[in-house]
Amino acid sequence: MGKAKVFSTHPLFEEARAILDADCEVEYWARPERPTSQEVFQRVKDKEGLICLLTDRVGDDLLRAAPKLRIVANVAVGYDNVDVASCTKRGVVATNTPGVLDETTADFAWALMMAISRRLVEGDAYARSGNWKGWNLDQFCGTDVWGKTLGIIGLGRIGRAFARRAAGFKMHVLYNSTKRAPEEIERELNAEYRDLNALLAESDFVSLHVPLNSETRGLLDAPKFFRMKPTAFVINTARGPVIDEAALVHALEAGKIAGAALDVFEQEPFIHPGLKRPNVVMAPHMGSASVETRSKMAAMAAHNVAALFRGQRPPNMLNPEALQSA
Ligand code: DGY
Repeated sequence: MGKAKVFSTHPLFEEARAILDADCEVEYWARPERPTSQEVFQRVKDKEGLICLLTDRVGDDLLRAAPKLRIVANVAVGYDNVDVASCTKRGVVATNTPGVLDETTADFAWALMMAISRRLVEGDAYARSGNWKGWNLDQFCGTDVWGKTLGIIGLGRIGRAFARRAAGFKMHVLYNSTKRAPEEIERELNAEYRDLNALLAESDFVSLHVPLNSETRGLLDAPKFFRMKPTAFVINTARGPVIDEAALVHALEAGKIAGAALDVFEQEPFIHPGLKRPNVVMAPHMGSASVETRSKMAAMAAHNVAALFRGQRPPNMLNPEALQSA
């Protein structure tokens, strides 16, 4: 029996390629631009494995067009781009990359929070402009982070890693989550549970750490922004559609909140023009983008694929039941 045929929508990194190439015959997408969905359809139709990024939509139509497919390995922890129910129905294993990006993403959420509160991006632009005439008492005064109230929505792995960092800043940590965290976690993080409205009303910084699903889509909408303090900031490193972007723009314009720091957007890579304002810091979805972490994510996806074709259980299955229905 020959090696399993796999299509990877990205060239990946050396470690991942070494893992894959031992067991699979991989066609790597090599062009700098992302493949269109037609190009993915075309390449995957005779493949048994697909390695994809969160920009690749894997729906029932693609699965139908690739009858030999046995695994879809998403190089991301979030998998809202993959129709897992259809994968299961068709006996296709779906996997993601949990755990390896928690600390890196939490670091980045902190970077965003610090940047927006201390006006770092505005200061950087001014320092480069050549217009700086010297220190002045009221120049670029921002808002303190230390000692403030931090509201975390979603206390999963990334939310917890984010919360852990608050201790050094002597912050009062509140959280909201679909399920209340065990007491020992609340104690370890020094975090108090609040219902969503109370968290929004009390927090100086609100940071989102939830997956995108039918419950979280549009979670922060116009009525929610109304509940927030006019001095509060929103940080989003989760998924863009968790925030109703038009409502956010309106809240910023109307002064309902003080600012936002966003790594993710409702319709990436499109960015609502109303967000291009000084009290918004933006990044192009780079929360997990460290060389170390992105290499680990790719290697993890490769391990999942290689395991399946070696007759083992892929370690990060989202739908283990697919193995039974296969
Ligand atoms: C993910 O993994 O879901 C991120 O958004 C990309 O790191």
